[in-house]
Amino acid sequence: MLQITPESIARAVEVLQNGGVVAFPTETVYGLGALAFDRVAVARIFDIKQRPSFDPLIVHVLDRAMLAGVASEFSSTAEALAQRFWPGPLTLVLPKTPAVPGLVTAGLPSVAVRMPSHPVARALLHGVGAPIAAPSANRFGTLSPTRAEHVARSLEASVAVILDGGPSLLGIESTIVGLTPAPMLLRPGAIPVESIEAVIGPLERSRSGGRPSAPGQLARHYAPRTPLRLVDPGSVPLSERRNAGALLLAGEVEGYQALRVLSRRGDLCEAAAGFFEALHALDSLRLQRIDAQSMPAQGLGLAMMDRLPRAALNR
Ligand code: TXA
Ligand code: MG
Repeated sequence: MLQITPESIARAVEVLQNGGVVAFPTETVYGLGALAFDRVAVARIFDIKQRPSFDPLIVHVLDRAMLAGVASEFSSTAEALAQRFWPGPLTLVLPKTPAVPGLVTAGLPSVAVRMPSHPVARALLHGVGAPIAAPSANRFGTLSPTRAEHVARSLEASVAVILDGGPSLLGIESTIVGLTPAPMLLRPGAIPVESIEAVIGPLERSRSGGRPSAPGQLARHYAPRTPLRLVDPGSVPLSERRNAGALLLAGEVEGYQALRVLSRRGDLCEAAAGFFEALHALDSLRLQRIDAQSMPAQGLGLAMMDRLPRAALNR
């Protein structure tokens, strides 16, 4: 892991330009990046993540000029969303240019693009002067990384450069909106769906099932190694609490070996920011089970409730 210095940024830029892969902080979660136009470098991402190749990657751009090299069309709806939310945690799925390798989009004619706001992500994009394809920096299906330590724990053996930007500000992935062409919510995330609808009106919600277009739509995903149940910990018999951990939005519960409360005030933004962090912490304690409380399905609660049931599925 490298602290953020001009030298470590320069080192990461050099690795990227030589077709390598680096892990870096963004405002949402840590990303595992390679040059988006270099298909061999992109293939390394799939290899390191052990990610099924049908699963397309998000391409990160610095500015509109870089965007134009990646997306062939930018509708007025896309424009309205970009004006309001970029740079930031919004990913738009747009028609792709021929320059984007099929491996990045898993053969789809569309590409997922986002303009990140994190200064380190922006410094890398500026340094390489080209788009960077980056999924979250974790093995496929496991908890998303919100600290450099999380990345190191699962990928240190295969990633030479891990830039340590401290804990992620938002702690949950970007919201993904499909625009090919009808606006559709493909993954709830760090921007509440209500804020997006305030700009462009009602969003269609994608149905789960069928061929997934986002791994958030796959069955098991975002999963800790410890078995997880979606249950109100307060209603679990005392005898079952002893060797287990509890994850609460707010409030208290007694008798658990470990307890994580996401926000004393029940604030969903604060809760989402610490969500994966809390799951990583509980997962490191060798508990028999994690009992997680349901969140209200509104605001950032929707993003957490998208992930918790998938984390709860058995292998
Ligand atoms: O916050 C984020 O979005 C983070 C940071 C690193 O930017 N990245 C991230 O990437 O969450 P990842 O790979 O874990 O999720 C990317 C999602 C996947 O669900 C993928 O299927 C979807 O984007 N996606 C990518 N291209 C797509 C496309 N053409 N159509 C539909 N979904 C697409
Ligand atoms: Mg991911």
